[in-house]
Amino acid sequence: PVAPPATLVIFGAMGDLAKRLLMPAIVNLVRWKLLDPKTQILGVSYHDVDDEGLRASLDDFVEGDAAWRKIRKQIHYFKGDFNEDVTYSALAGKLDGNVIFYLATAASFFGSVSQKLGAAGMLKEEGGFRRLVIEKPFGSDLASAQALNAVLLQQAQESQIYRIDHFLGKETVQNIMVARFGNALMEAVWNNRYVDHIEITAAEQVTVGSRGKFYDATGALRDMVPNHLFQLLAMTAMEPPTSFGAEAIRSEKAKVIDAIAPIDPANAVRGQNVAGKIAGEKVPAFVKTPDVSPKSRTETYVAMKLYVETWRWAGVPFYLRTGKALSHRDTEIVVHFKSAPLHTFRGTEVTSLPCNRLVLQIQPNEGISLDLAAKVPGPLVDVVPVSMNFAYADVFKMGHRTGYETLLYDVLTGDQTLFQRADQIEGGWRAIQPLLDAWAKKGKPEEYKPGSAGPAGADALLARDGRAWHTLA
Ligand code: BG6
Repeated sequence: PVAPPATLVIFGAMGDLAKRLLMPAIVNLVRWKLLDPKTQILGVSYHDVDDEGLRASLDDFVEGDAAWRKIRKQIHYFKGDFNEDVTYSALAGKLDGNVIFYLATAASFFGSVSQKLGAAGMLKEEGGFRRLVIEKPFGSDLASAQALNAVLLQQAQESQIYRIDHFLGKETVQNIMVARFGNALMEAVWNNRYVDHIEITAAEQVTVGSRGKFYDATGALRDMVPNHLFQLLAMTAMEPPTSFGAEAIRSEKAKVIDAIAPIDPANAVRGQNVAGKIAGEKVPAFVKTPDVSPKSRTETYVAMKLYVETWRWAGVPFYLRTGKALSHRDTEIVVHFKSAPLHTFRGTEVTSLPCNRLVLQIQPNEGISLDLAAKVPGPLVDVVPVSMNFAYADVFKMGHRTGYETLLYDVLTGDQTLFQRADQIEGGWRAIQPLLDAWAKKGKPEEYKPGSAGPAGADALLARDGRAWHTLA
């Protein structure tokens, strides 16, 4: 159904997020006829442009078809300094009915802009809904995340706040719930009686590139783990929700994050890329990246073992890893099942049986594969692993989408399922706080070569348990 009409106020309308991700998603929603024709977009920033200037700055980022021409006319510009009260009083005079405030700004503005919106009375839901959208980073540790949540919740109700984790906009991430709860087969074995261990990987080939300043202050742990990787973990480990309602799902996810046992720094590895090559291209050492301190101890790779202390997962290790400048771009969840309880084929050529393995391939090459044991044809009994593959591309037409289409549509229709609640955010930081504390004090990351699978310590982390990472591909 078509979303209700609203004005989408984008703070930071001339920025990268607005241009590369939000506008193309809005145009897709127009194309799919999901946006009310009365929808208005109001871009706010300090740049000295007018309506036409803003529209022209977006032209290069969208396909110039009828959908774009239609919404283009409904885009307006409002020049204002985010720090000045007059910006907000003038803005308030322009708005009525349903309004969404999308803070596509640096994170340092989240608190102050929300406060000023609140002070100007713009978050009061009198003549329509008022919603606030923000995207990570939500703080940089537990204390700062709690402080930000406190500021936001002074100005708005939790039901008005939409904290985006863009991983939840990915179709394959949303499909984790369907794979688990739409198939009776899966849930039957989805527990510590059958699962040996689980790997969650978000490997990137890209380097820090032009984001040196942000990244040097952030690092792989803060950038990826309490948010994206923990969202994948929560989807994988949550109990079946009692309904498909936002609160039911968000509560189950929050419980998983709450149940993460304090992570022992001895079970975590940090790495930093040295200079080298990826696919023939030269890559500088992280410490030689523009805007990065030459003495930086910031990690560009992190791996860890953790436990989710619930009845279902007691004793099952979860291994998480993420890093930049690696050999492949590969985001996946690998569920390793225990071996068959009895080696029925003893006395034959078969010396050991392969274990079943389910791979949820999030990106790229979206799909699901299941490794099974199969008999090699012939008079002798020999067993090898074979793979059953489902590729999204074979079955569905995915088209080009940014992942923000669903998220924006959900904000417009008031569905908070795919957004993070305050308790999930704080739970994520609480779980990694032992690592933040330990690493702030001492030590430095292990070096690793660009184009590799990460530092040797990450392999050793699994080797200690007699295991190995799934090969990046
Ligand atoms: C962002 C991080 O949140 O996610 C980036 O800040 C990272 O460092 C990106 O590259 C990964 O997202 P995706 O969708 O490309 O996997």
